[in-house]
Amino acid sequence: MESKTQLFEELTKNVNEIVEKPTKRDTKLEGICTVLKKEVPHYDWVGFYFVTDAGQELILGPFAGAATEHDRIEFGEGVCGRAAEGRKVITVQDVTEAENYLSCSPAVQAEIVIPVFKAGEIKGVLDVDSHSLSPFTKEDRRFLMEVCEIVSEVF
Ligand code: SME
Repeated sequence: MESKTQLFEELTKNVNEIVEKPTKRDTKLEGICTVLKKEVPHYDWVGFYFVTDAGQELILGPFAGAATEHDRIEFGEGVCGRAAEGRKVITVQDVTEAENYLSCSPAVQAEIVIPVFKAGEIKGVLDVDSHSLSPFTKEDRRFLMEVCEIVSEVF
């Protein structure tokens, strides 16, 4: 079985290839969500939120996984809104311990949210939910930050 490092190296190449394809932004982002959800066993929902033009709010973009009622999230609300407001990665290894959390599905046990920056400004976040407890390591964080850097050019 390939290691997590190898898997993430291959997926980083896939993400670069998808971004370089001559397709629309949302087609690229949806393709990336689909590949990540399919190939990483502990990624059960993968989606992007965009910062609205007025700022201070996130709007749901392309995603792979179950439909969510959280299609608009204020800065400061939930894990996504806190990551956007604080311009930082937030990892929640057990959502039952998170105080400010917006549940999408009772099956979700952990979540990681990574901001997407372009020219120093926050443009959106990448949200990954997992049905496993404590599934995220430094490798996930590094990999997903790399993904956000790659996709920032299309934001
Ligand atoms: N759980 C998120 C809301 C988005 S859904 O997971 C897709 C949060 O607390 O921000």
